[in-house]
Amino acid sequence: MTIPSVSIPYNPLTEVTADVGGKENVESLHRIARDFRSDTLTVPTDAQLLYSLRASRGDDVYGEDPSTVALERRVAKLTGKEAAMFAVSGTMTNQLAIRTHMKQPPHSIITDYRAHVHKMEAGGIAMFSQATTHQLFPSNGLYLTAEDIEPQIQLGTNIHIAPTKLICLENTLSGIIFPQEEVVKIGQLAKKHDIGLHLDGARIWNVAADEIEKRGLDAGNEDDRQTVLTDLLAPFDSASLCLSKGLGAPIGSIIIGTKEFIERAKWFRKAFGGGIRQCGGLAASADYALTNHFPRLAYTHHLAKRLEAGLRELGCGIAAPVDTNMVFFQPQQIGLSLDAVTARLAALPNPIIVGRERCVVHHQITPQAIEDFIACIAEMKKEKEANGQVENGEGRIGDKEQQKLDNYNQPKGKTTDAVLRKQAALGY
Ligand SMILES: Cc1ncc(COP(=O)(O)O)c(C=O)c1O
Repeated sequence: MTIPSVSIPYNPLTEVTADVGGKENVESLHRIARDFRSDTLTVPTDAQLLYSLRASRGDDVYGEDPSTVALERRVAKLTGKEAAMFAVSGTMTNQLAIRTHMKQPPHSIITDYRAHVHKMEAGGIAMFSQATTHQLFPSNGLYLTAEDIEPQIQLGTNIHIAPTKLICLENTLSGIIFPQEEVVKIGQLAKKHDIGLHLDGARIWNVAADEIEKRGLDAGNEDDRQTVLTDLLAPFDSASLCLSKGLGAPIGSIIIGTKEFIERAKWFRKAFGGGIRQCGGLAASADYALTNHFPRLAYTHHLAKRLEAGLRELGCGIAAPVDTNMVFFQPQQIGLSLDAVTARLAALPNPIIVGRERCVVHHQITPQAIEDFIACIAEMKKEKEANGQVENGEGRIGDKEQQKLDNYNQPKGKTTDAVLRKQAALGY
């Protein structure tokens, strides 16, 4: 199905001006508007930083910064939890939350084999929580189910095992939305066995934006956000919500949970050296992003779908469902290597930056960048065809490229552990 080019009701390129932000930051914004490596790359806007200029300037380690307290109360209310705590990064909030759940080794945690908490946080679980991680492979290739998890839970008093104390889920994972019915079932399973349930919700905002759209609600309305976020987070005892990814805060992530949980997490934050003194400006910047950038997330999803459709139409493979803002593309399917495509995009007069097969659409990506991206691949394909190098059917790409492609493909149906482990090593 062809998805026509998408328009958005705001122009991100006007949001840093030479007068306020300076010429270099204007140029930086223009570069980022065509940079698909991550949604962490967004540039704080003039309005956002001017808003943070007016934030309170108290000492948050003393609990005396009203802007930080206001943000924490706002997020706690939005997510239907008793309390929240701001910290510098998603890694820190995940690790603090996990440490807060854990009491005394031996203990263990169940995660997806691709989970950021165990794979991309420098071994923090072992380092800070002294816990073993059991990585599970989703039998459906996309997300864990209660059926996958239940047989792996370690219970009882057998001295050879490290009892399961926590299950960690991630939503979105590779941009894929975790079906809420399954989250609810896993929540019931955790309760049944008296095990904690934590969410790495670095991009739960994208899930909420999608859900708001599906329910016909208004992303700009605080009550509607609250309804949806509260539903999404109800099964979890704790969650880490990044503010510096899709939302576009310059820094920060937040843990939510019960009052008691957050009090204990504050203790660990102090021990990690993570208390921030005059935190108000950071919190206000995130608060601004929540109000003003959250409603943009649905547009980033539309743009991602447009990118997916354009690339599919050209014959590129798409390795994972495009539920939100990520497109994993495989130009190898049309005989173009990822390296060649990346180099060509970067060599455009107005360069487009792509890290690897993962393309992330953030709120400062312009519709023009998406169209230029598709046009560049179309051009490369045409050149290949003219040179007689793109064939249809078997043998169209070399063995090495084919192997790369196989490695990147998401598991489908029942896949052997060996294959899944190989994919886990590549990382999504
Ligand atoms: C799913 C997920 N969780 C957690 C993090 C950690 O966030 P931070 O980079 O702020 O430490 C990331 C970072 O990319 C992430 O993608």
